[in-house]
Amino acid sequence: MATLTGKARLAGVLGWPVMHSRSPLMHGFWLKRHGIDGAYIPLPVERDFETAVRGLQAAGFRGLNVTKPHKEAAFAICDTVEPSALRAGAVNTLVFDGRGITGSNTDGFGFMAGLAEAGITLDGASALVLGAGGGARAVCAALLDAGAIVTLANRSRHRAENVAAALPGLSVTDWEEREQALGECDLLVNTTSLGMAGSEPLTLDLRQAKTSLCVADIVYVPLETPLLAQARAAGLRTVDGLAMLLHQARPGFKAWFGVDPVVDDELRRLVLASLEA
Ligand SMILES: NC(=O)c1ccc[n+]([C@@H]2O[C@H](COP(=O)([O-])OP(=O)(O)OC[C@H]3O[C@@H](n4cnc5c(N)ncnc54)[C@H](OP(=O)(O)O)[C@@H]3O)[C@@H](O)[C@H]2O)c1
Repeated sequence: MATLTGKARLAGVLGWPVMHSRSPLMHGFWLKRHGIDGAYIPLPVERDFETAVRGLQAAGFRGLNVTKPHKEAAFAICDTVEPSALRAGAVNTLVFDGRGITGSNTDGFGFMAGLAEAGITLDGASALVLGAGGGARAVCAALLDAGAIVTLANRSRHRAENVAAALPGLSVTDWEEREQALGECDLLVNTTSLGMAGSEPLTLDLRQAKTSLCVADIVYVPLETPLLAQARAAGLRTVDGLAMLLHQARPGFKAWFGVDPVVDDELRRLVLASLEA
């Protein structure tokens, strides 16, 4: 890393654990590419979240990414919470400036940027989202905001209903009904952990789906989940989880370091290699 000056812009990712986070790799890549006098630092903080954040703010940091287990606690520390975080139910990005601490959530932005990159348009489209965990609410909110008609199915129906209660316009269907619900859909999104390395695959018969269906999976280890492999073999369009992971980092980088960075093949290869290591 280049020597930092006294004017260096500083940011980082705060969570516990943080050693698996790919954010330092992504931000480090962009800092180097743009020759920015700055650093992005992994900050392992298990407890004392508020003390750590206030200390970093006082020390001149521009802001932070917040990851597990602090994404919900981060609301309490914000002077301003942006609609993206309210809609997603979690804060993953903090910006420190003259207005104090502003919290937002960039997962929905990342997911939509991945779809846009693949040429998928959504206005008036029907989407079926599977899962009701951390990633699901941000994805559902972003799809609704883009004008899609969204149905959610989750193994534990009450969790899907909790998401729907926070997002007017979202419909819920039973997990067992997911294949029937797929029939008229333009987009299917897996946000469950099914298909992730070490988990069982998602079982879903895609034969009833429209030939124009796009299948997106936010799981990124492995990059080609069994669901995406099945969709590709059926000739359907697919979007993998790496696109969301890379694009969600852009708004923070822009706010802290002043450049809207580009997600390209070089970055994709770099992050992919670290996931495969
Ligand atoms: N690409 C990205 O940037 C990005 C962002 C966020 C997350 N992710 C990935 O998305 C995946 C989910 O993450 P998360 O944080 O949302 O997880 P989470 O909060 O733990 O939620 C897990 C979800 O999977 C469902 N599930 C787990 N086992 C199941 C099974 N056997 N049958 C049916 N459903 C099952 C859960 O259903 P119940 O509610 O019934 O338990 C729940 O909806 C992970 O692989 C994560 O790495 C990727």
